[in-house]
Amino acid sequence: MPKLWGGRFTKGVSRLMGEFNDSLPFDKRLWSEEIEASTAYSAALAKAGVFTKSEQAKVAKALREISKEFADNRFRFKPEDEDIHTAIERRLVEKIGDTGKKIHTGRSRNEQVATDERLFLRTANSMAVDLIRELQSSVRELAAKTTGDILPSYTHLQQAQLVRLGHYFMSLFFMLQNDRVRFEDLTPRIGVLPLGSGAVAGSTIKLDRELLRRELDFAALTPNSIAAVSDRDFMADFMYAASQTLIHLSRFAEDLIMWSSTEFAFVELDDAYSTGSSMMPQKKNPDSLELIRGKVSRTIANLNSLLILQKGLPLTYAKDLQEDKEPLFDSVDTLFSSIRVFTGVISTLKIRRQNLMRNTDDSIYATDVADYLVERGVPFREAHKIVGRLVLSGSENGRRLRDFTRNELNSISTLFDDGYYKIFDPELSVERHDVYGGTSLKRVREQIALAGKMLATTKHHRR
Ligand code: ARG
Repeated sequence: MPKLWGGRFTKGVSRLMGEFNDSLPFDKRLWSEEIEASTAYSAALAKAGVFTKSEQAKVAKALREISKEFADNRFRFKPEDEDIHTAIERRLVEKIGDTGKKIHTGRSRNEQVATDERLFLRTANSMAVDLIRELQSSVRELAAKTTGDILPSYTHLQQAQLVRLGHYFMSLFFMLQNDRVRFEDLTPRIGVLPLGSGAVAGSTIKLDRELLRRELDFAALTPNSIAAVSDRDFMADFMYAASQTLIHLSRFAEDLIMWSSTEFAFVELDDAYSTGSSMMPQKKNPDSLELIRGKVSRTIANLNSLLILQKGLPLTYAKDLQEDKEPLFDSVDTLFSSIRVFTGVISTLKIRRQNLMRNTDDSIYATDVADYLVERGVPFREAHKIVGRLVLSGSENGRRLRDFTRNELNSISTLFDDGYYKIFDPELSVERHDVYGGTSLKRVREQIALAGKMLATTKHHRR
């Protein structure tokens, strides 16, 4: 069978060019979106008088049957099918003959592909929101279970100050909240319908675009046909949101990988999310988290591909844009599988409580000691210097801060009293950080309560 556009040609494309040109191998994933959009389009064509009522009913019925063929894996592609749009139109004509040939009246694949992509992303976007919400809820549960556990926090990967483990996990919750809202904010930008734009200048048929919008449940219509067929900014938005989400996950993956090492031993991954070594029998490797850390590189690369694809591209549609789909699909798949696996890791994670403070020495209380002196009237900069000297002398003589005698302390500052020895208590240390957003029990519980409210709210209507 010749190509759908074959009239102007005297011979076919080379096999090489055929394979190079076809997007079917990857855009067949858009079959249900293509059928949904074509069904709506047939209704608009009927209203415009292109189809009679009974012709349109025949088209809609055939499209339903084709949809069933895809769902049952019975749809047979033909060599002349270039992409999902031509494949479905070809099958429609096969099924109902000449009536089917009218479906493309006033229509262009340029608007079809943009429409199908928006339909696809609408579903993917709301799925991303749901998956992030599920992960957030597991993270919140874990945080609630670990508010009583205290461990060192790190800056520059050096021990900094003690924090509640629940406080640490809540930091992931709030980063994910930003991610979720970022996806939710895309909803109105994705939900704009291009159908009716034609190839570039707008349809010549008197299409009721408002009817198309209602049929496909979009919030708005693209107000300019040139922008409608040219732009893929909504897709780049999604791909950035996906990258940022996975960047967040990759940082926590990295911490948990370190924490599951023998050196830290703060956590243990469930067997279900670990794998062994083919050679070293003792190994239990955190492959799940390593893969999440690694896979973000794909979503960042995919985002870059799409941006580079559009840079300097002349308006309006050019075939370059066919290259938008593989990066998009890969980002969607990578995002979903990474979030799902991360959720599994979090909800089965074992905390090795006894090790959390194992490698913490008294120097982690250095800021507390400085604050203690500040409370006794020493200016902070001065206090910082005094404690610095204590820490240095301790590390030179192998002594902990709490081992200094009153005499030794008073030779440095007369302000030290017996209250000094009460400083070295993890619970007291974290409780002193009692500011909104801080690590005291009350403040962490406040965060967990806020998180509960956030989980219950959605910013935008789904479409
Ligand atoms: N397969 C094409 C794509 O994915 C569909 C649009 C083709 N349009 C055209 N005028 N050749 O972008």
